[in-house]
Amino acid sequence: MLSRPKLISFSDLHREAKKRLPKILFDVIESGVENEHLLARNEAAFKDHLLTPRLLVDVGVRTQQTTIFGKQYAAPIGIAPTGLAGMFRAGAESMLARAAVQTDVPFILSGACIEELEKVSAISPDRTWFQLYAARDRAVTEDLLTRTRDAGIETLVLTVDTPVLPKRERDMRNGFGLPLKPPLPLMLEALAHPAWIAHYLLNGGLPLMKTWARYAPKDAGAGEVFTYFRSQSPSIQTWKDLDFFRSRWDGNLVLKGIQHPADAIRAAEAGVDGVIVSNHGAKAMDQGPAAITCLPAVVQAVGSRVVVMMDSGIRRGADVVVARCLGAQFVFSGRGPLYGVIARGVEGAASCIEIFKDEIDRTLGLIGCPDARLLSTEYLSK
Ligand SMILES: Cc1cc2nc3c(=O)[nH]c(=O)nc-3n(C[C@H](O)[C@H](O)[C@H](O)COP(=O)(O)O)c2cc1C
Repeated sequence: MLSRPKLISFSDLHREAKKRLPKILFDVIESGVENEHLLARNEAAFKDHLLTPRLLVDVGVRTQQTTIFGKQYAAPIGIAPTGLAGMFRAGAESMLARAAVQTDVPFILSGACIEELEKVSAISPDRTWFQLYAARDRAVTEDLLTRTRDAGIETLVLTVDTPVLPKRERDMRNGFGLPLKPPLPLMLEALAHPAWIAHYLLNGGLPLMKTWARYAPKDAGAGEVFTYFRSQSPSIQTWKDLDFFRSRWDGNLVLKGIQHPADAIRAAEAGVDGVIVSNHGAKAMDQGPAAITCLPAVVQAVGSRVVVMMDSGIRRGADVVVARCLGAQFVFSGRGPLYGVIARGVEGAASCIEIFKDEIDRTLGLIGCPDARLLSTEYLSK
């Protein structure tokens, strides 16, 4: 029997996931918005930050262990929230949670998940963070907060960068929605992925968003629950709403999507515990700066008061090292673990994190920095 190809880098995960999924679904993950300029900019901006090695340092023992919100993890990288993950592979959210346990990193469960938040977080409540898309109906939001707390989750991530639906043109052209309405050529292309189709038929077809099902009309099917979810999210949130979340949530409160330092200051003043500098992996607005470009000003503005994290465009361990040099205490990858889980389930998602860890470790050794906590602008080329 032929052995499976080795997973050596992010691009291997991307390639395998692409092979497995019909285009109508793969494009949902890979795409950005409109011209997809930001998608390229997020990645290219890392290439502008070069690392200058320091030599003759004893790097025989290296560590990248990182403590955040009082918990120690094996690496400064975690799994970012990706909505509808369970549509790309049945059970993907639980698989991502297991991969996080296996690799000892945090996992942010998307508020737009397929499985029940209680079920997924039970796999490892103290490393699972919950990402909330606030509902238009405050009672639903309140209930989600109660459920999150009751599930033993300590960190709530409030995503605030998509008050309106972004223009995701590949999805519009491909007829992506629930139900899927692909044009004929895409329907034929989907038939070339019998493994995915068989898997889905075996798992009961297009999945129901179980976390949200209880708020939708009684006995609603997958399509109706999705329509209900869309009627609630995106919702417009303001600084006043942030005060509500702060008063209602006792645990760590993280605001995701911050780009402007003035917003970071306002968030710190409102009492958040952390911010994630992010442009939603280029899936919100196209005409914006790369996330890594926004990071230094946010670190300067609030780095001493709140935990500053970042995502969007991380493809290599060296990108993680650069982000740490620029002051991010932690980074997240969205597409990487998702490609991994689609390609090979728990093992694939864990491979993604292990690949990042390995590349971080080699980079630390090569730049002469034995401990990721010591990274600073000193290692960047001026
Ligand atoms: C398919 C997909 C779904 C996403 N769904 C969510 C989501 O439900 N909630 C959220 O806060 N961010 C979501 N994001 C954004 C990610 O959390 C993260 O910010 C982004 O993927 C980071 O960029 P990267 O993919 O380049 O690592 C999604 C991203 C992708 C690619």
